[in-house]
Amino acid sequence: MAKYKLVREIDVRLADNSYPILIGQGILQNKELICRFLVSKQVLIVTNTTLASFYLPSFMTILSDRQCDVVILPDGEEYKNSASLNQIYEALISKAHHRDTTLIALGGGVVGDIAGFAASTYQRGVNFIQIPTSLLAQVDASVGGKTAINHPLGKNMIGSFYQPKAVLIDLEVLKTLSLRHFRAGLAEVIKYAILVGGALLDDVRTMLAATTDVKTVSEFLEVSDNLSDIVARCCQIKAEVVQQDERESGVRALLNLGHTVGHALEAYTHYSQWLHGEAVAIGLYCAALLSHLQCGLKQDLVNEIDELLFLARLPRRIPVSVDLNALRILMNTDKKIKNNTLRFVLIRGEGDCFLDGQVTETKLEAALESAVEGE
Ligand SMILES: NC(=O)c1ccc[n+]([C@@H]2O[C@H](COP(=O)([O-])OP(=O)(O)OC[C@H]3O[C@@H](n4cnc5c(N)ncnc54)[C@H](O)[C@@H]3O)[C@@H](O)[C@H]2O)c1
Repeated sequence: MAKYKLVREIDVRLADNSYPILIGQGILQNKELICRFLVSKQVLIVTNTTLASFYLPSFMTILSDRQCDVVILPDGEEYKNSASLNQIYEALISKAHHRDTTLIALGGGVVGDIAGFAASTYQRGVNFIQIPTSLLAQVDASVGGKTAINHPLGKNMIGSFYQPKAVLIDLEVLKTLSLRHFRAGLAEVIKYAILVGGALLDDVRTMLAATTDVKTVSEFLEVSDNLSDIVARCCQIKAEVVQQDERESGVRALLNLGHTVGHALEAYTHYSQWLHGEAVAIGLYCAALLSHLQCGLKQDLVNEIDELLFLARLPRRIPVSVDLNALRILMNTDKKIKNNTLRFVLIRGEGDCFLDGQVTETKLEAALESAVEGE
């Protein structure tokens, strides 16, 4: 049996749904490890065309002694919809999957979110395993149990909180991820570094400075020897936040740092111009500027955040072509709105973020204007 190397095991401890996050190399090829989390002889793998071409045949061989069915979705955020969800339900029903079946999500955040929602609703909830394959999904989307599909009128509008039975992170698979998608995942890593500050911020800065000019993900992994440690620390932070606030009634909202403007930018361009992480990167810079105006974040840290995003080769500025009024209106679908008031995650200093419902339109306007390219 193929050997795997375990880098870290992190437990997400929840009242009803505790589960492990296993981080390592070669996990995808280890039958004993994968089968540990299956509860019956039935499995449905949900993946997409890209991941299927790289990993499906070999992954299926380790499940050959079970009823193993597969749904291969088209690749793309635009397929995170009810049609894809129905494709999964149809496979489950037509192949007679029972309540003790297991859904395995093999893919990035899109596949993980759809498969998780299908698992949470099929026969009122079945066993679910996340095998995240993009950096963004490994450090963020696969942990914490948020599942969703998009509605034509809004992103992630239909969803549920539903925890997986395990999150299995195989760092080897990152080698086939495009550099652009990999860098988009770095935006979420920078978000965690700002949220906790200290050693993580230092280590992320060192990693980014050493890898700015790499041309491939494999080169990134060769140059930087601490990505696996950084992935583990991001998962640990997310696990701790989710343990405190599983359903986002408080502290979990801080994980949305940079996302209010980021989501609005994605919607403004109909998800066509930026990847999610790229839009979040611009959102992080806007959050820094807004924090400077609203709560006195020091200019040095604003510059530092800008520099981190630059080192990660991520976009940081709003293009001049963007209509800021239209962008502001798009923020009205933000899920942090309470009593009709938009709340922003702001930064007082490294490791010191908070939710602020008192941001005035004037300050928001000023921050957005100074984030525009060339300002
Ligand atoms: N549930 C949550 O808590 C949460 C958190 C953050 C983001 N999300 C969601 O996650 C999605 C974004 O996730 P994403 O950035 O992973 O996007 P994605 O799932 O679209 O993956 C990005 C691209 O990389 C490809 N890919 C993934 N892994 C690969 C690999 N190992 N080798 C080659 N190609 C690979 C995919 O096929 C896709 O083309 C959004 O829909 C967002 O809403 C969810």
